[in-house]
Amino acid sequence: MAKPVSRVLVVDDEPLVLREFVKGLNAAARALDNPLGLSFTGVATAREALVAIEADGDLQAVLVDDKLYSLPAGAARRANGRAPGKKLQMSALELVQRIARLRPELDVYILIARESEDDVVDALFAEAVDGYFYREERDFRGIYRILNAQIREKARTPFYDQLKSYVSMAKDQWHTPGHASGESLRGSPWVNDFYEFMGEHVFDADLSVSVPMLDSLMNPTGVIAEAQNLAAKAFGARRTFFATNGTSGANKVIFQTLLAPGEKLLLDRNCHKSVHHGVVLSGAHPVYLESALNRRYGLYGPVPKKTILAAIRRHPDAQALVLTSCTYDGLRYDLAPIVAAAHARGIKVIVDEAWYGFARFHPEFRPTALEAGADYATQSTHKVLSAFSQASMIHVNDPDFREHLFRENFNMHTSTSPQYALIASLDVARKQAVMEGYKLLARTLALARELRAQIDSTGAFRCLTLADLLPEEVRADGIRLDPTKVTVDISGCGYTVDELQAELFDRYNIQIEKSTFNTITLLLTIGTTRSKVSRLYDALMRIARERRAPRRPVRSPEIPAFTRLRYLPRDAYYCGGELVPVFDERERVNRALAGRVCADGIVPYPPGIPLLVPGQAITREIVEYLGGVLRSQKRIELHGIAYDGYAPCVRVLRPAEERSLRRLD
Ligand SMILES: Cc1ncc(COP(=O)(O)O)c(C=O)c1O
Repeated sequence: MAKPVSRVLVVDDEPLVLREFVKGLNAAARALDNPLGLSFTGVATAREALVAIEADGDLQAVLVDDKLYSLPAGAARRANGRAPGKKLQMSALELVQRIARLRPELDVYILIARESEDDVVDALFAEAVDGYFYREERDFRGIYRILNAQIREKARTPFYDQLKSYVSMAKDQWHTPGHASGESLRGSPWVNDFYEFMGEHVFDADLSVSVPMLDSLMNPTGVIAEAQNLAAKAFGARRTFFATNGTSGANKVIFQTLLAPGEKLLLDRNCHKSVHHGVVLSGAHPVYLESALNRRYGLYGPVPKKTILAAIRRHPDAQALVLTSCTYDGLRYDLAPIVAAAHARGIKVIVDEAWYGFARFHPEFRPTALEAGADYATQSTHKVLSAFSQASMIHVNDPDFREHLFRENFNMHTSTSPQYALIASLDVARKQAVMEGYKLLARTLALARELRAQIDSTGAFRCLTLADLLPEEVRADGIRLDPTKVTVDISGCGYTVDELQAELFDRYNIQIEKSTFNTITLLLTIGTTRSKVSRLYDALMRIARERRAPRRPVRSPEIPAFTRLRYLPRDAYYCGGELVPVFDERERVNRALAGRVCADGIVPYPPGIPLLVPGQAITREIVEYLGGVLRSQKRIELHGIAYDGYAPCVRVLRPAEERSLRRLD
């Protein structure tokens, strides 16, 4: 098993002091217990420090001399023996600020002189400084012990450790789950193979609230609370909550907390269906923001900035604004000005970061939603970091956070027997992100650059750039691309997208993330390896060499424009309604559906944008679209369609139900 390596950088422009510190600290590391593999290196200038911080993924802490002067080495002059002047203090301060911008997960310590203590501490008070040491004391063992303890603190996994301890205690289990550490499966001639296939620890660690020493997800006061606090620190949140029903559950919890029935919510119509479900559950009055559409590639989103800002101005009574950043295709908003505009009207901002949970750990991806000022961020830690499926995090920075209400809603959406292995995986995913996230993401970015260049070199496939992805109306919105989401134009390869996916799967053992009629999207994560990149490149190169004549892609029809909401989604959803078939007896689209009001959300997938939400009036155009999709050979699922026998139907409100509801239009 690979052993951890933890480097600490000492930044001091006085060569003798620097040498003495690096030597003394390394001697302490050799002499004392060193399970984290601590070692010390030194540089003389802030500039060199920044280069080292960028290059060294094993760096865990930085020790900065407060007298550091940021001019090039030759020009640096020490204020030897004197209290440092204002300018000199600022350079250490500036370095600390740059480190926080570059790698907020690093511990930063300042070496100070006794006589400058007050000045330095005052100047650095507002910065993310983890501690101070007196330079003159040369207490290398003391410094080493503290650094070691602090790094150890970040690397702690309180919940996972406790879970392991309980398993290793091998207690007689008179509690759930019924399989009792796999006992029920182990000796069985029928199901023992499941036990063997999954492995013993899957069963040993499948525990839940019955074990008090493992704390309670619904009222955390012990190891779960500790693990959540460590996550909050790591992700830059005031509070973090672990969610075991994915970001789907997390979004619903937030909506039910922030919105009372009838209160307004501004939301991207293109947001995930959990947001639409949250609208039904909370009874909110949604104001849908139309996403930009890239017609050339069939990609939706993001919402133009001017649409968002206009909605904020027009609906100052809204309680919350929800945006998805980054989108499935990796497009991320310039969030700060949007958040500022929303906050100016007292509107809370929720950002669905389901695809962006790693962003805090590499400057290429920042600022995160919280760093841009958002009040809430939900992240599918399982999608892009090392947590198990369904394991997500809710981060809260809302200064008006109503904890009791949040807790009630959280508990409403949480099983009373949550899978504790999911919580352990969140604890471990946080540790990994803090300890080696920067290094792994740097590798992922390098692989993404390599893969993009290789794909472009095939001649038949082309990676879409930010300019390709952005529809005209969002070009000036400061939107950026997460390069680890690679969308590839396949229109030149001679395969349709369905044929290409089948070829990649059957012949080359490759499963991609998603597709449109002329693109495929590949997702690189910290689990992507160079071998995987090579195999994909090899497959695409072989397909390109077939030199098939380009085929005309089968375009998916465009989703018709959104019609006005006639009733609140919740009111419509909870009507019993009636089922009306999409086709009539002569198999033509059923005109009788036009003019009725939908009771369900009808969502073609892909792309997952609702064609209808509950309470929305159905038009002839929408009926035609529905008929077209249902008849098409293309693999589009239509979520929300009901079946009466084999006949596809839409659940609509009965006239009497409509008369009983308050109209919005
Ligand atoms: C934008 C967005 N939000 C939320 C979710 C739901 O996340 P989870 O799978 O963690 O429930 C998804 C899932 O694909 C998503 O794409």
